[in-house]
Amino acid sequence: MQTRVVVGEPWDVPADVLAVPIVREEPLPDVVSAIDRRTGGALSAYRTLGELRGKPWSSALLPGGETGAAWVLGMGVGDVAGFDRLTAVRLGAAIERRLTDRAVSRLAIVIPDELLAVISADEAVELVTRGVVEGSAEPALIYRPGQAAPPELEHLTIIVGAGDAASLGRSAERGRIMGEGANRARRLAQRAANDVSPEVLADEATDLAHEHGLQVDVLGPEQAAALGMGMFLAVGRGSSNAPRFIVLRNGAPGATDSRGRLLALVGKGVCFDSGGISIKPADRMEEMKMDKTGACTVIAAMATLRQLAPDLPVMAVAPAVENMPGPHSTRPGDVIRAMNGKTVEVTNTDAEGRLILGDAFTWAERNGATHLVDVATLTGAVARALGDQVTGGFATSQPWWDEVAAAGARQGERLWQLPLIPEYRAEMDSTYADIVNSGSAEGSLVKSAIFLAEFVTRPWAHLDIAGTAYYRKAHPWAAKGATGVSHATLVELALTGA
Ligand code: BES
Ligand code: ZN
Ligand code: MN
Repeated sequence: MQTRVVVGEPWDVPADVLAVPIVREEPLPDVVSAIDRRTGGALSAYRTLGELRGKPWSSALLPGGETGAAWVLGMGVGDVAGFDRLTAVRLGAAIERRLTDRAVSRLAIVIPDELLAVISADEAVELVTRGVVEGSAEPALIYRPGQAAPPELEHLTIIVGAGDAASLGRSAERGRIMGEGANRARRLAQRAANDVSPEVLADEATDLAHEHGLQVDVLGPEQAAALGMGMFLAVGRGSSNAPRFIVLRNGAPGATDSRGRLLALVGKGVCFDSGGISIKPADRMEEMKMDKTGACTVIAAMATLRQLAPDLPVMAVAPAVENMPGPHSTRPGDVIRAMNGKTVEVTNTDAEGRLILGDAFTWAERNGATHLVDVATLTGAVARALGDQVTGGFATSQPWWDEVAAAGARQGERLWQLPLIPEYRAEMDSTYADIVNSGSAEGSLVKSAIFLAEFVTRPWAHLDIAGTAYYRKAHPWAAKGATGVSHATLVELALTGA
């Protein structure tokens, strides 16, 4: 898809569809009124009828009239004051999805000046473009090609009233690259566990590394054992699909970013989480093929970063395992030794994400990471607390959390900080080891992060995407399935060191 930004009049742009955001307020923005006149007053007639009153994601297609487009698509976006970063992303995505199965290869989207109260033209262009790309993702097609799909665009043109065309063009490209990166993460996360084993995930990461010029290291069980990764190995041992510890790096050894930091993006890569011996109930267990989403996200983010900031030193660490019951599985009551030397009593083999992440943190710090952020589908509790629209997070350093949250805000991703409560650490004491991996149910969300914090010594933030990583039903702006959440936040965060 080629992106283009036009600073000027939308009716000069040839397109199959010209999409127009429709707000609740009257009078309509000037450019929308002008399009209304060029469609013989169709837009305002629709409003009189009760259609196209600006309700978010309500829409109507009408003939293009005296515009350069064959069709005009009105797409509700709510109030002008509510047009923020998240709405901009969803506007692009909702337009793209509304055109599912339509013969469209040239899409134009006008962003009226009046909508640029909260965000700038550059931000709107980037985020709407990212949204169009993300809207094109259709997980149902992975194993069933040929089904109804959002259009594969050849040209996307964003039209704004004013601004620097060169800078706006770069913003559109940034949005396209960000969106394609998120889609790469989603596609990988969505693939089934009989398709993507830890070894296949490592192969995918290796191919991506070669394609984009990243350094890649994949450690197998013997190398992990030599490094003392007892927690990582304890999770993987129940499966006949052997674990892989995946590392992608950019930059020379010892190099740091413009702030003297080396950021490690750590992602949970549980290719299937049956729960292990502490087996899960059958209900919705099929969703656990997406328990590798964190790993897929950090792997994709590295390729995105390589395109946006080729010289930026950064690393991704993705421990990949399958959590299965079997004769070799770790049992409840087993005592294991982490790479950092701490001993852990495994009281619940279904609390496996924290085990593989803990050793990944130790590895990242020993290999130069000065700042860490992890993304993980870690707890059902975060989904119960916050649902599918906001990611819960924790951090050991408030300034570091604030940086992560600011990056999220700039990309329109919702994050909500939860507290690390030191008193709860005592409830994770073990008689036989330094800590249990799963304490009592009270405060279990906080305790998941308390456990992880035992394995970091540097500024660290944790994003629990168990609620936000996939949608259980389709929304106007996204299909059912993997959402790509947090990819843009991680990339934006890393770019602050460019
Ligand atoms: N992968 C799950 C968390 C999860 C649940 C992700 C639902 C997406 C949807 C994780 O490994 C897990 O099993 N967590 C347990 C922790 C408990 C045993 C302390 C949970 O949330 O029940
Ligand atoms: Zn899990
Ligand atoms: Mn689990």
